[in-house]
Amino acid sequence: MEAISKSFFLYLSNNQLLNRLARKWGFHIGADKVVGGETFEDAIPLIQQLNSQGLLATVDHLGEFVHNKEEARERTLEVIEAVRSIDKHHLHSQLSLKVTSLGLDISEELVLENMKMIMEEAQKHDVFITIDMEDSTRCGKTLELFKVLKEKYDNIGTVIQSYLYRSAKDLDDLDRLAPRLRLVKGAYKEPPSVAFPEKAKVDENLKHLIKKHLLNGHFTAIASHDDAIIEYTKELVKEHEIPKDQFEFQMLYGMRTETQYQLVKEGYNMRVYVPYGNDWYGYFMRRLAERPANIAFVLKGMFKK
Ligand code: FDA
Repeated sequence: MEAISKSFFLYLSNNQLLNRLARKWGFHIGADKVVGGETFEDAIPLIQQLNSQGLLATVDHLGEFVHNKEEARERTLEVIEAVRSIDKHHLHSQLSLKVTSLGLDISEELVLENMKMIMEEAQKHDVFITIDMEDSTRCGKTLELFKVLKEKYDNIGTVIQSYLYRSAKDLDDLDRLAPRLRLVKGAYKEPPSVAFPEKAKVDENLKHLIKKHLLNGHFTAIASHDDAIIEYTKELVKEHEIPKDQFEFQMLYGMRTETQYQLVKEGYNMRVYVPYGNDWYGYFMRRLAERPANIAFVLKGMFKK
């Protein structure tokens, strides 16, 4: 049953017609429970509120695919505006982005040029940028792009997904760059030829990657809502006396809010991923696919006065 509903929501997340309709209907059909606002400006009060309660943020402009050079440049300029706003409003926030929205599928030169424009501005404003990881067909290209940028800019990180067989090797390859990495299980529908089909293997591999990256001495963001992963990390850092500034927990906005505050109370760094933008539909459906229990949570939000 769970597998069927996962496939169903992942199918919906890719449905272009529903995506267009959802944008037309507007924002208030439950998406505001997991999305920070339609524009970056809308998300500012929320980030300020999170910051005032001891939570760090990373903002992400929603929207994955662009169709031409002009759209990719438009997105680039929007990201640059967000970088400037983070600094202007003194937000304790980083920025996450998807390189398909900056032209990865159009040409490697284009995405590199757009990323360099963003990184120059991010360096100037001291904003850390994380390249989100998309589906497996784009993983290699994304890591190559990351390596090129990391040689030049220090304020950049990326994501490794534990469901992919290749990830342990990718972590080894990246080691020489001492990268700040976000480690996740992985959110896309992947075939068994590239990804572990069994959840237990994905969980086990995530623990393996967390241990390896932390013991190699590099900054690690553990991005998971899973208590077993959080407990594992707590014990690991205690056992190896890893300082609290070498790692942080990350969770999505609207998910396990009480746990987020609890981790802050315990003295851990906790970063909340706040997506914004009117292209929220695919993101929203992927969250429902991960956890169908979120449907009840969203429905409750929709009908609550
Ligand atoms: P998982 O879905 O495996 O659930 C395990 C257990 O955790 C559940 O059984 C339940 O007990 C608990 N749980 C999970 N969600 C809960 C909830 N909402 N409420 C209560 N309990 C819950 N993916 C990707 O492919 N590329 C990326 O760049 C990113 N980036 C990213 C950033 C951040 C900050 C986060 C938190 C996640 C991502 N992801 C991602 C998504 C990630 O790959 C993964 O799909 C989700 O985090 C779901 O996996 P979890 O480890 O959170 O729990």
